[in-house]
Amino acid sequence: MIKIKNLSHTYKNREDAAVKNISLHIKKGESVVIIGSSGSGKSTLLKCINRLIEPESGKILIQNEEILNCSLKKAARIRGKIGMIFQNFNLLERETVMKNVLNGRLKYNSAFNTLLGRFSREDYLIARENIARVGLQEYENERIANLSGGQKQRVAIARALSQKPSIILADEPVSSLDPKLMKEVMDLLKKICTEKKITLVTSLHFLDFAKKYGSRIIGVRDGEIVFDGTPKELTEKDIVDIYGATRDWYMYGKTGF
Ligand SMILES: Nc1ncnc2c1ncn2[C@@H]1O[C@H](COP(=O)(O)OP(=O)(O)OP(=O)(O)O)[C@@H](O)[C@H]1O
Ligand SMILES: [Mg+2]
Repeated sequence: MIKIKNLSHTYKNREDAAVKNISLHIKKGESVVIIGSSGSGKSTLLKCINRLIEPESGKILIQNEEILNCSLKKAARIRGKIGMIFQNFNLLERETVMKNVLNGRLKYNSAFNTLLGRFSREDYLIARENIARVGLQEYENERIANLSGGQKQRVAIARALSQKPSIILADEPVSSLDPKLMKEVMDLLKKICTEKKITLVTSLHFLDFAKKYGSRIIGVRDGEIVFDGTPKELTEKDIVDIYGATRDWYMYGKTGF
């Protein structure tokens, strides 16, 4: 589903590369969780996968199609297969739940209809179905600004689903939520992706979460992969390799419930 080869990226005005020569294959239906300390390169890696940032070098294939080194038009088409969920939701706060979820249908819409903000009956049906799927049917016409954090992230999930994605990339999707909501939102995301056979790549801060929701864990440190295996294979030594030989990693160990 995703093939990454020798991916490197250095931000402008930075000496060190944020992502260093990463190679990685992710299969259809996998639930991959990326862990690592703050600044280790998790977000950079995720943003390279759908070319939200233009990496310096390397190859990325999405379902055997190269998303780098191609026209922006082709990249946009490939990006259409990838739903994205962010820590800070990235929703239109002043718009309704329905409007936000409909935006997931934009890639299926003509430029003319998009300009006029028109969507087809089918688009509405799909949006409505996904709003119900995340349990927000009663909030369809509510403005985002009036929702709780957990509800907002559900809207973002419904928007991603309306894209009918093969892949969902979620960058710390539950970091802005309290522990109870964190679990609720992750349970929902994982369940839907399993049901619909969507490949899920998530970055998460807490180890117990990573172990619970990942079928595969990838540990990054200073832009490099230092662990790649199942939750069961992750030893205490690996955890020190990922987070460093400080006691800091203990703070990643528990979410507090
Ligand atoms: N837009 C940017 N411009 C310059 N440097 C950046 C930019 N974004 C990230 N970096 C740097 O790249 C490195 C990796 O950052 P990245 O955001 O990928 O880490 P992260 O693992 O997602 O961290 P966190 O857990 O805090 O979200 C860091 O050293 C960071 O300072
Ligand atoms: Mg990040």
